[in-house]
Amino acid sequence: MNANDGSWSNHPKTDDTLRQAVEMLRQAERVAVLTGAGISAESGLPTFRGAGGLWEGHRVEDVATPMAFHRDPSLVWRFYNARRAGLRKVQPNAGHHALVKLEERLGGLRFTLITQNVDGLHRAAGSKQVVELHGSLARVRCTGCWAIADRGQEELPELPRCGQCGELLRPDIVWFHEALPGDVWNQAAARACQCFLVIGTSGIVYPAAGLVELARGVEARVIEVNLERTPASDLADVSLLGPSGHVLPRLLEQL
Ligand code: OAD
Repeated sequence: MNANDGSWSNHPKTDDTLRQAVEMLRQAERVAVLTGAGISAESGLPTFRGAGGLWEGHRVEDVATPMAFHRDPSLVWRFYNARRAGLRKVQPNAGHHALVKLEERLGGLRFTLITQNVDGLHRAAGSKQVVELHGSLARVRCTGCWAIADRGQEELPELPRCGQCGELLRPDIVWFHEALPGDVWNQAAARACQCFLVIGTSGIVYPAAGLVELARGVEARVIEVNLERTPASDLADVSLLGPSGHVLPRLLEQL
């Protein structure tokens, strides 16, 4: 299925599965959501895996590990500066906006939005509480004094340096072989929920992917929204196969 062909709503099973998902959301006192790169695909940002994905054009080991940064910080910064520049051209899509509505509907105490994305599009859409598991493209972190600064969409030099101590800055992104900041993980993992929505993620990068298992462990109902089946599909009560920019607004309409 093509993400933009509109055929999702004509799928014969769609109405049934959508109704089941709506019922699960209605019955839940607390809802948690995990998003991945797929939710931003309809905004025009590439996902990581698959044809045309970021990891097809770049090797993880060259641009997304602490060793890569140590070896060749210019290459790493070229990759992240290009991604930062890409953000200037994109806007949140209907999927992001539907999650803003869900937060408004449930209120902050009943809703947690956890994202693996570093693109900032959930906040740009208006989501208030966003747990950014993998950091943020907008932020930089000093490799000397560890100061963190939000540089927004500002154009950065090829090798940006800290204004305070002069050491090299790095993107404030969690790379492979690095642990998630403890506070971020606690915010993401601690909230018990009765319904867990997993949207647009291949579900293979841990520990994020483990949140689905944690949710199952507290007997939450799991709803998956993705173009295709993933490892999370086996844990899901309902799989809504289709583009999140179409599926999520319909889910919210019926809630
Ligand atoms: P992936 O690229 O691994 O997976 C994207 C998922 O989105 C796939 O399952 C697609 O089928 C699905 N998808 C694509 N378009 C969609 C659409 N319009 N609607 C719904 N689903 C859609 O991206 P992530 O799972 O986010 O980590 O990747 C996880 C982590 O691996 C990333 O945070 C990143 C990456 O390496 C770091 O950089 C640390």
